[in-house]
Amino acid sequence: MADLEGLKVAKDYHVNVPFANQNGFFVKGANSLDWGMKKHLTNIFNPKSGNTVMLAFDHGYFMGSTAGLERLDLLVPKLAPYVDVLMGTRGAIRTCVAPEITKSVVLRVSAGSSMIQDDLSHEVVAMDIDDCIRMNADAMAVQTFIGADGQLESLDNLNKVINAGFRYSIPTLGVVAVGKQMERTPRFFKLATRIVAEMGVQMVKTYDCEDFDEVVAACPVPIVVAGGKKIPEKDALHLAYDVISKGAHGVDMGRNIFQSAHPVEMAKSIHKIVHEGMTDAEAYEYYEDLVAHPEENQ
Ligand code: R5P
Repeated sequence: MADLEGLKVAKDYHVNVPFANQNGFFVKGANSLDWGMKKHLTNIFNPKSGNTVMLAFDHGYFMGSTAGLERLDLLVPKLAPYVDVLMGTRGAIRTCVAPEITKSVVLRVSAGSSMIQDDLSHEVVAMDIDDCIRMNADAMAVQTFIGADGQLESLDNLNKVINAGFRYSIPTLGVVAVGKQMERTPRFFKLATRIVAEMGVQMVKTYDCEDFDEVVAACPVPIVVAGGKKIPEKDALHLAYDVISKGAHGVDMGRNIFQSAHPVEMAKSIHKIVHEGMTDAEAYEYYEDLVAHPEENQ
């Protein structure tokens, strides 16, 4: 119990100074959210750059042990220092990521399809909010299939997760899925990102496309961009630079980091673009230097 004797009277209320945190919370569309949501978003998005590097390694939930993800216990600790967020399934994170790794966690909470099916668009909510709370997750990721067979159930999944998220102040990341048969036009991405945002998510994950700056402008919450299939490192760095310069607030990148011959160097180079304003050309030079002089860049 604090000693009440000699207690100083509180007087510095600064009544003529406007409340300093009334407006302008740095995450797009999050100004009216409560403290808990804002805290989680601050764990995800760096308050200085406003951006995030998410390491996506949730592919196993429908692809099994894909190339590069054979040993999550070896891979994730190696890459964790250079990213802001670990995005995976509860099974992967509980078993392979030590709690001492103090990175933000975004949990993949929808599941239900696998690569051996033709139509991947049918999923369920695979995780209770209770377990997301137990794992101290900063957000829950739900796949949505706009324009696909499973649209209705995926939006139902999304809304269930958003509603639970609001009950406990945990943000939801709406993931715009692109299936084999689905179009990848600016029209599609504007439609899908906006539908997902208007459902009430706090962030959207989508893909790069033509007129990407318009997709960003029409989406009232931050967009993070998936890397997609493995492409040459130079092209992946260009993708990251291009989407950041058009208003994305980060990348949620998997294969273009963990399938690189130099995953750590790729993660460091992506970080430079997303947080430090490096151009793609500068970042590629930086990447090549890291690869050429591994001993100097430990
Ligand atoms: C899709 O939602 C997957 O689960 C991945 O999280 C996503 O595709 C990002 O990984 P990649 O950069 O490999 O496309």
